[in-house]
Amino acid sequence: MKNNAPEIPPKHQSNSLHLSVLLLAIFIALYVIAARATDVESAPRASKPLLPVLPPRVAAAALEALGRTLFFDNNLSASHKMSCASCHDPLHAYGPANAKSVQLGGADLQQQGTRAAPSLRYLQNVPAFTEHYYDEDFDESVDNGPTGGRTWDGRAPTAHDQAGIPLLSPFEMANTDIADVVATLQHANYAQEFRRIFGSTIFNDPQSAFKAASLAFEVFQQNAAEFYPYSSKYDAVLRGQSKLSAAEQRGLELFNDEQKGNCAHCHPSRIGSNGAFPAFSDFGYIAIGVPRNRELPANTDVNFHDLGLCGPYRRDLSDHADYCGAFRTPTLRNVALKQAFFHNGFFHTLEDVMNFYNERDIHPEKFYPRAGDGSIEAFDDLPAQYHENINVEPPFDRGLGATPPLSQDEIKEIIAFMKTLTDGYHP
Ligand code: HEC
Ligand code: HEC
Repeated sequence: MKNNAPEIPPKHQSNSLHLSVLLLAIFIALYVIAARATDVESAPRASKPLLPVLPPRVAAAALEALGRTLFFDNNLSASHKMSCASCHDPLHAYGPANAKSVQLGGADLQQQGTRAAPSLRYLQNVPAFTEHYYDEDFDESVDNGPTGGRTWDGRAPTAHDQAGIPLLSPFEMANTDIADVVATLQHANYAQEFRRIFGSTIFNDPQSAFKAASLAFEVFQQNAAEFYPYSSKYDAVLRGQSKLSAAEQRGLELFNDEQKGNCAHCHPSRIGSNGAFPAFSDFGYIAIGVPRNRELPANTDVNFHDLGLCGPYRRDLSDHADYCGAFRTPTLRNVALKQAFFHNGFFHTLEDVMNFYNERDIHPEKFYPRAGDGSIEAFDDLPAQYHENINVEPPFDRGLGATPPLSQDEIKEIIAFMKTLTDGYHP
């Protein structure tokens, strides 16, 4: 939360030692309690571990290869025509290959949810979801409010929790239940390999078999060459192996300039204090007031709102009115390969995205519809009581009719810079 979030109080800085000692004490106490609880309660359940215990000699390579096979297996969907790769295409940095705002799925491949499919690249450093990210070193590359987690609202803690969502979503791969997925696995031509890796009895317990598959998906998504190659022109520049053109260089400066784009405020562009190449996301949750996408079937219901962090897909934070409308800041790596932008895929070109950043509050009539009385319905996808959550930092810091922070030439330069973030650059 950049907007209304208070600065981290100074006491956090001076008392960080006390805090660590306190945390350590709490941790030890919890550990002792947990150890006792395990003694008393879970002995009878010891035969059912949370994740299947892998036979010791299984190589990560075998698990990864299985995960790759699963990722491209159309039979894992109710339609038998859709795999993970249908929405996460390797030729498009594991994002969608088409310009649809939201991909079609379901048993008949005609169902549509409400969210744009993200690229699966560069997720390896997304921290687990937390409401209060706090780093002793104040690493600027991570936001200090709600942060991290998988999906636009962070409801999946890890990639293996994530894999369960599309497999069972009626808008996506649309399997009826876990048993349905496991039946497919059991009859697949790789079932023998599955047993070899996870044990001959793995299919006896659908829960364990489903978790085993999730683990394979996760391990596949940890393949560095596929999922975080750092092979863009900008990476080459950071390594001193290439140079930005004059326009790209001006674009980078405008991207970083707090009075101009201020993009790096949320999409950091510099090598982090720990030496990591920039993720172009601080993983924070921000409401920027993306217009309602009236083409989505769910939005024909005027009472339906995708409010991100506060629901409807996650329910644990629904009492946090100040989180409504906030979505996780996406990476901008490979963004030029996309053809639908923001959580609901409302915009289809980077030019339109840039005009929105540049003129959202200056010329709202360019982005939002008019009500019956002729007034502009600004932030039309967010009920009025949440409008105060909308971010008003630069470039969103100007009122009606003001001069926009960026000229059209400057917009072109920022776009030229964003195009240097596409992987697979060959000098
Ligand atoms: C019909 C399209 C579709 C299919 C098929 C699909 N996904 Fe996705 N994927 C999405 C959408 C949409 C989201 C964002 C969901 C949200 O925010 O609620 C997403 C999000 C994700 C994320 C989180 C990305 C992030 O930025 O945190 C991961 C990981 C992922 N999918 C993996 C998979 C895997 C693995 C499969 C196959 C088992 C799969 N997806 C199948 C559309 C799809
Ligand atoms: C205050 C934080 C913040 C600032 C400043 C900011 N962004 Fe974003 N950016 C976000 C968030 C949050 C989203 C996702 C919003 C949503 O979908 O509801 C986003 C989404 C995007 C997307 C769409 C990516 C995708 O995969 O759909 C692009 C492109 C983008 N930003 C570029 C920029 C540029 C260029 C600038 C500077 C002009 C900028 N951003 C400034 C937070 C920010």
